[in-house]
Amino acid sequence: MEDWTPSSWATKPIKQDVVYDDTEGVQAALNKLQKLPPLVTTQEILNLKKSLRNVALGKAFVLQGGDCAELFDYCNQDMVEAKLKLLLQMSANKPVVRIARIAGQFAKPRSSPMEVVNGVEMPSFRGDNINGFAATAESRRPDPSRLVSAYFHSAATLNYMRASLSSGLADLHSPLDWGLGHVITPSIKEKYERIVSRVKDALRFMHTVGIDTDRGVETVDIFTSHEGLLLEYEQSLTRLLRNPHTTTLQPTTTSTSSTSTTSTPLQSYYATSAHFLWIGDRTRQLDGAHVEFFRGIANPIGIKIGPSMTPDDLVRLLDVVNPTREIGKVTLISRYGAAKIAEHLPAHIAAVQRSGHLPVWQCDPMHGNTQTTPTGVKTRHFSDILSELRQALEIHRSAGSFLGGMHLELTGEAVTECVGGAGGLTEEGLGERYTTFCDPRLNEKQALELAFLVAGFYREMDDAEGMNSI
Ligand code: PEP
Ligand code: CO
Repeated sequence: MEDWTPSSWATKPIKQDVVYDDTEGVQAALNKLQKLPPLVTTQEILNLKKSLRNVALGKAFVLQGGDCAELFDYCNQDMVEAKLKLLLQMSANKPVVRIARIAGQFAKPRSSPMEVVNGVEMPSFRGDNINGFAATAESRRPDPSRLVSAYFHSAATLNYMRASLSSGLADLHSPLDWGLGHVITPSIKEKYERIVSRVKDALRFMHTVGIDTDRGVETVDIFTSHEGLLLEYEQSLTRLLRNPHTTTLQPTTTSTSSTSTTSTPLQSYYATSAHFLWIGDRTRQLDGAHVEFFRGIANPIGIKIGPSMTPDDLVRLLDVVNPTREIGKVTLISRYGAAKIAEHLPAHIAAVQRSGHLPVWQCDPMHGNTQTTPTGVKTRHFSDILSELRQALEIHRSAGSFLGGMHLELTGEAVTECVGGAGGLTEEGLGERYTTFCDPRLNEKQALELAFLVAGFYREMDDAEGMNSI
């Protein structure tokens, strides 16, 4: 990679940077992080990359979801478990690749570095890895010890995720034990039970013929992700690591054959804070620090794209971060809003198709649909979220492209932050359990309903095209 190092971003203009007054403290924190082990392995990262390649080719569906802003306090058994169960229960018509916004989704881009709380101006809350939410000048001061704390909270969350999954949290043999019964409407429950009974029949059959003895049926993968906003942190956890399975492909000293060379290098730089990192809509400037950092890492990456992205810049950006045009290396996460998607998505798809890049196309129906109620509460309407998803699917179909998945802000708790859905939550009801520290999230019921409705759209369109559906 030409002229790239894990720290080359520092020579570029940066948005949303954090100014610490304790520079020695920052250096001590980064030195500590550099010595700690990676949070994820290269093999896991490459497994995700392979799965996302399948999504780009239309063979699988990617579901990415979790909190807008994770807090250190969310690192507890109940909240981690609730989120995992919810992501596992959300189904689609194709194999699902699951990526959680978890175990590191701490840093948040803010529209203004300062805000006024109770008449006092103070620095905005930037996320638990930077400063504290408590509205005092002292707590809002960027504190470098939070960088190390972020690592350990990520590690504890990830440890419990891995342990739960390998202990059978997702065991398909007992899907009715997932405690779904009381949270969904009767019609959704009925559909779900039909699917479960079909799965059970299949498992009984596999058991009878003796093919369920390996652990493949009982475990699933859930990958981790966060916005790669805080580049000092990401740099400290970026490591030059040997690429799995490449040793035998390298030219040997005795070989002169040109066929023994391969395009996979022996080692690559991996961001090891999570399997998947994305660049936010506010930090994706072509000549900026974030794009510079992202172009050097071997992980699959996401780029948020909104109405301010031009088709030409989108292609330039893909050329910079993925010059070899690896299929599915980049996930384009579109977030225009239900009222604007029809105006922007077709030109973005057309430009990318002309360029020869084949990214994963994912729809984030949350960030373009945020509204404020007359009483000043930030919310999103279920109907807008559903409408942006439906339009995304239709626009991709008619352009001969695949909508590969969706990107949601959700939580396993019964919060009241988004309006609508079968539960009929109204603006008046938002105050009941409004607990987000950032953007409004779908609650468990709303997220499950959305997944069922979206799977229904795919089925409808497959049927209309006369394709086989399951
Ligand atoms: C987010 O995903 O929470 C976010 C800030 O999104 P965007 O960059 O699309 O505004
Ligand atoms: Co958000």
